[in-house]
Amino acid sequence: MNDYARVNVKEFYSGKSVFVTGGTGYLGKALIEKLLYSCRNIDNIYVLLRDKKGERACDRVKQIINSTAFERVRIRNIRYIEKIRPMSGNIGDENLGLSKENLDIIKQEVAVVFHLAATVNFNEPLKDALAINLNGTEEIIKLCKQMTKLEAFIYVSTAFSNSDLRKIEEKVYPNTLNIEYVRSIAECFPNDEYVISKLVGNKPNTYTFTKALAEEVVLRAREDLPIAIVRPSIVISALKEPSPGWIDNWNGATGLFVGMSTGVMKVMIGKGDNVTDLVPLDIVINLIIVAAANCRRSSLQVFNCCTGKSNPITCNQAETIARRATYKHSLNYLPLPFMWFISDTILYNILRFALQLIPSYLMDFWLLINGKRATLLKIQSRIRRTVELMQFFLLNEWDIEDSNVRNLLNTLSEEDMDTFHFDVKSINWDECLENYVLGTRKHLVKNPRRPDKGHLHINETMN
Ligand SMILES: NC(=O)c1ccc[n+]([C@@H]2O[C@H](COP(=O)([O-])OP(=O)(O)OC[C@H]3O[C@@H](n4cnc5c(N)ncnc54)[C@H](OP(=O)(O)O)[C@@H]3O)[C@@H](O)[C@H]2O)c1
Repeated sequence: MNDYARVNVKEFYSGKSVFVTGGTGYLGKALIEKLLYSCRNIDNIYVLLRDKKGERACDRVKQIINSTAFERVRIRNIRYIEKIRPMSGNIGDENLGLSKENLDIIKQEVAVVFHLAATVNFNEPLKDALAINLNGTEEIIKLCKQMTKLEAFIYVSTAFSNSDLRKIEEKVYPNTLNIEYVRSIAECFPNDEYVISKLVGNKPNTYTFTKALAEEVVLRAREDLPIAIVRPSIVISALKEPSPGWIDNWNGATGLFVGMSTGVMKVMIGKGDNVTDLVPLDIVINLIIVAAANCRRSSLQVFNCCTGKSNPITCNQAETIARRATYKHSLNYLPLPFMWFISDTILYNILRFALQLIPSYLMDFWLLINGKRATLLKIQSRIRRTVELMQFFLLNEWDIEDSNVRNLLNTLSEEDMDTFHFDVKSINWDECLENYVLGTRKHLVKNPRRPDKGHLHINETMN
């Protein structure tokens, strides 16, 4: 049964102000861009920004505006800069570290809150992950309760917050541990790996563990606030918006696709026949925007923004498409680009040594004697870290329910369906993954030189 009423999405945002956390991040930039581009009558977009690397919060708004994501907005919407209002703060601080003046603006003006800020470092020390992912969510909720015009609070979680289960429904699952207990243990034993790993239990890392705790905090606020939780799986580049293949970070599967298409990575720990749940960026952003327009008090909705159920693709199928794209566009730096998924760790290590490490030693030696910089072994150690982070997600498979998403999709008018499209059934994986590979090359691996003509440069931020 469909519980959602038909809402005109553009009209919903007309004349309303929104508050975004995580606006400098991958999803955050795309969200702000889409709101400006498609909801032209939106009022102000307040963005929480922290000081970082010596740059003041208010200056960091340039990072958003100058992003390649904003090209079409720069051309079409001349008033866009005035609408983005930076607010200095930090998600982990009391009242988000906002000034009294800014707190008042938010309390009186904002109708929609999009909470995206998080540490997405899988292995962040638990104490720090709790400070940002859990305390930050609590602070936002405290603020939401004081907002006079609030119509929607969207919490962006992850489909893997319950990755200790095999079937994941669109509901919040209770945590087995009391939140205060977790806090006190993290406080008392911040560096004790054994204690922390016992606490994190069956969750694969501190990221998913703290995101699950934050969901519980959100659930508790359901009686007081109009809330929805959107849970994306592994977000890849955009299908179409802001431009096909657009991407600006190395998280998730991106390191693997770059590793394979450059030819530096030949083996990965995983099961080739497993469904890999990849979801394009714009599908996630459109769902977030539409979910907010449909939020209601006292009925927290959870949306699993995933492809595994409605349009599945296996690791091997994804590899085949990426490999074909690599050959088609001659993208590889090293010969024979391919990737084998191996579930046996011993076999994986043997193949890694033979297919990745030996060629890297030889290549680095050759580069050095030709007076060039040797980088291949350095890249191999980064690949090693990516494998460690990603193997859990490629060795396991989940049955992730998405019927709330499909029901919401059915409420869209034809016009909204065009503008805020999030039907994963319509994804053409051949086209989508070809653009992903090309997008990573255009936006991330910015130095296209081959090792024989210089050094292979892979961005320092790669996991
Ligand atoms: N990308 C994915 O595959 C994926 C999948 C599922 C769920 N998600 C969820 O989607 C959301 C956005 O992820 P993303 O991929 O866009 O991550 P991202 O690119 O790493 O962005 C994280 C954002 O959070 C902000 N942030 C972190 N700590 C903060 C703090 N203490 N105070 C203020 N802001 C802080 C960062 O700001 P700075 O620029 O100041 O660091 C940045 O804007 C997260 O909640 C994540 O859990 C992402």
